[in-house]
Amino acid sequence: MNPAQEIPATAAPSAFDPITLGPLTLRNRFIKSGANEAMCLDGRPTAALVNHHRELAAGGIGMTTAAYMAVSRIARTLPNQTWMRREILPDLRALTGAVHAEGAAISAQITHGGSFVTGMHARGRLMSASSGINAAGLMKGNILQRKMNESDMAQVTLEFVEAARLAREGGFDAVEIHMGHGYLLNQFISPMSNRRGDDYGGGPENRVRFPARVLAAVRDAVGDDLAVLAKINVADGPSRGATAEDAVVTARALQEAGAHMLVLSGGRNVESTWFMFGSNMNHAEIAKVMRQTGDRVGALMMKVAASSERKVDFRELYFREYSRKIRAAVDMPLAYLGGVKSLDNVETAMGDGFDCVVLARALLRDPDLVEQFRSGGRRESRCDNCNGCVAYIYDPDGTRCVYRGENDPQANRVFAVDWSALKYCD
Ligand SMILES: Cc1cc2nc3c(=O)[nH]c(=O)nc-3n(C[C@H](O)[C@H](O)[C@H](O)COP(=O)(O)O)c2cc1C
Repeated sequence: MNPAQEIPATAAPSAFDPITLGPLTLRNRFIKSGANEAMCLDGRPTAALVNHHRELAAGGIGMTTAAYMAVSRIARTLPNQTWMRREILPDLRALTGAVHAEGAAISAQITHGGSFVTGMHARGRLMSASSGINAAGLMKGNILQRKMNESDMAQVTLEFVEAARLAREGGFDAVEIHMGHGYLLNQFISPMSNRRGDDYGGGPENRVRFPARVLAAVRDAVGDDLAVLAKINVADGPSRGATAEDAVVTARALQEAGAHMLVLSGGRNVESTWFMFGSNMNHAEIAKVMRQTGDRVGALMMKVAASSERKVDFRELYFREYSRKIRAAVDMPLAYLGGVKSLDNVETAMGDGFDCVVLARALLRDPDLVEQFRSGGRRESRCDNCNGCVAYIYDPDGTRCVYRGENDPQANRVFAVDWSALKYCD
């Protein structure tokens, strides 16, 4: 017997195998990433949102993620964004029931924008890790932000806990606490927005202190019934931002706080969308949508932003090197995200020791991709990373792939141009 036979290599699980995350077992390890569906009205889910997630669930994924659910009214970034409150429980149940009927689970991405309020004017100074000029809010007159104090932090912690409790009552299987991309909890984690000199600022251990406290409180409140996940940045992108070494500290603190799994993302909405998407924004498509919705100032701003942006060539699995550093540093379940487009990509991520794979654009292009992978119908997504879909988070008919349109009867069932699908659920 040679040594290789004596110690059998442990084969990585297949992404088609079930996985247990705390109290939740998923039928497989494919997760639809939280991607602002823009299918809510007055802060309530609509029938279009239900159709969207039903279609994804029917396409074979293990779990879908209802994106961008603000933990309170003031936590919103955009005026129509869902905000968690008791009166929308029937809508939440319609959404979760539709997904469960197709055999998938559903996670609620719960978030607080902090000073990242881009879609409306807010009264007073917005909360953040630090005080000062608020670049993200300039277009809507949200010019200044203020540094949160202990009582603000206690209040926001309570709001996350309440949102998680409502998610449980609404039938969700998991909550994903958003700690990436420049939202409030990331405003603490990232040195680009945290300039505090107290216990919540300075090194990465201090910067994650408040986000970890939020997670522990949510875990205490609902962790026996729901999987508690967090979406974090593996890095911010710019050299003055959080690094992969910082992300290791963040991950360890969240493991300690009881997270059932971390979803590994990266980049910030204002400073580094090129890093978040591993490619440049489709400014022409964004300007087109903004012109259609009458937002001429926004269209102009996009042109200006496009001229100064760093140019990036898309690579599949573009967060792989960063995410593997986190994989090496913690024992907890980790979900790989970023440029997963093919079955080969999925197998590479599983081979690297990740526990789940998370996809956004590929599933917007091909909602039945997992079924296609399983049946052998397709080994690759048809998504070409044009990023046109991102523009449609500003469109009243909701987020969609630009290639899914009039000639795609399946897509038309989801996106009714006459708004008939954009009615409340109940
Ligand atoms: C149209 C669109 C909307 C998005 N909105 C959100 C969001 O609401 N919350 C979030 O955490 N990430 C959001 N993202 C980022 C994705 O979740 C994901 O991190 C990113 O697209 C990279 O994954 P991918 O390569 O599989 O597309 C969005 C992405 C797209 C394409």
